[in-house]
Amino acid sequence: MRYVNLAGTQVPTIGQGTWYMGEDPSRKAAEVAALQQGIELGLTLVDTAEMYAEGGAEQVVGQAIAGRRDQVFLVSKVYPHNASRRGVPAACERSLQRLGTDCIDLYLLHWRGQYPLEETVEAFERLIEQGKIRRWGVSNFDLDDMRELGNPACATNQVLYNPAERGIEFDLLPWSRKQPMPTMAYCPLAQAGRLLHHPVLGQIAERHGATPAQVSLAWVTRGEGVIAIPKAVSPEHVQLNAQAAELVLSDADLQALDHAFPAPTRKQRLAMV
Ligand SMILES: NC(=O)c1ccc[n+]([C@@H]2O[C@H](COP(=O)([O-])OP(=O)(O)OC[C@H]3O[C@@H](n4cnc5c(N)ncnc54)[C@H](OP(=O)(O)O)[C@@H]3O)[C@@H](O)[C@H]2O)c1
Repeated sequence: MRYVNLAGTQVPTIGQGTWYMGEDPSRKAAEVAALQQGIELGLTLVDTAEMYAEGGAEQVVGQAIAGRRDQVFLVSKVYPHNASRRGVPAACERSLQRLGTDCIDLYLLHWRGQYPLEETVEAFERLIEQGKIRRWGVSNFDLDDMRELGNPACATNQVLYNPAERGIEFDLLPWSRKQPMPTMAYCPLAQAGRLLHHPVLGQIAERHGATPAQVSLAWVTRGEGVIAIPKAVSPEHVQLNAQAAELVLSDADLQALDHAFPAPTRKQRLAMV
């Protein structure tokens, strides 16, 4: 596994997402097992949110990390409509209950909402003082949002990033690297849609004896300070995602991907899912 420095802590460049987990009770055991398998294989950063299955995903994570909390770097997110002075601590308390822990390693504002950023940040800082969270950060913030936030304590910005969605490379990613502040890439497999059937990914995968999904993960994490958080429930996918940390793309591979998915040449509005 390769690692990235996140506010003084080493975290793996590939972690695990949990969106759509916790929605169907008949799948819960498989979801818990997948997260545990991933943790064993070094995918120890686990990303969740109060939004996912309205707390259901946090419950899955809680069950998966029971007895192994110290092996995991736990990320959760607060809804924008809860991001007020009173709403943040209440939402955090509920998340802690569901996660079965007394501290979240990184607590993010899921996206910008109606409350002033200073109010949310103040609430985050109070949670740090109380030991309920270790760090805070944001998600779905474009460069102007980051500048307005203007707070070096922000530990990450979690945004959409994969070969088919390169908009952040124009301005946000270089700016984040300069801080330096790691970027957390969500949907690094583009939700296993068309991207994974693209012939260029297929050809590169074949050259390396890998899969298109592994090529996508290796590409997303190729530069400095990017953490990918693929979500996988299938045990085979979990295994492949952990192994993707060893895949290094050649200059020729990168050129082929640049050709198929050109880098942005001007500002693009931040894409979101
Ligand atoms: N901050 C935000 O606003 C935001 C937005 C979206 C997502 N996120 C976070 O980012 C995480 C990842 O995004 P995502 O879940 O939307 O999409 P994703 O990780 O790009 O794709 C997930 C899909 O890929 C499949 N998959 C996983 N590993 C694979 C592999 N090795 N080969 C082929 N298919 C594979 C999964 O199948 P199986 O599950 O069947 O294995 C699932 O269908 C989320 O789970 C969430 O934690 C955050």
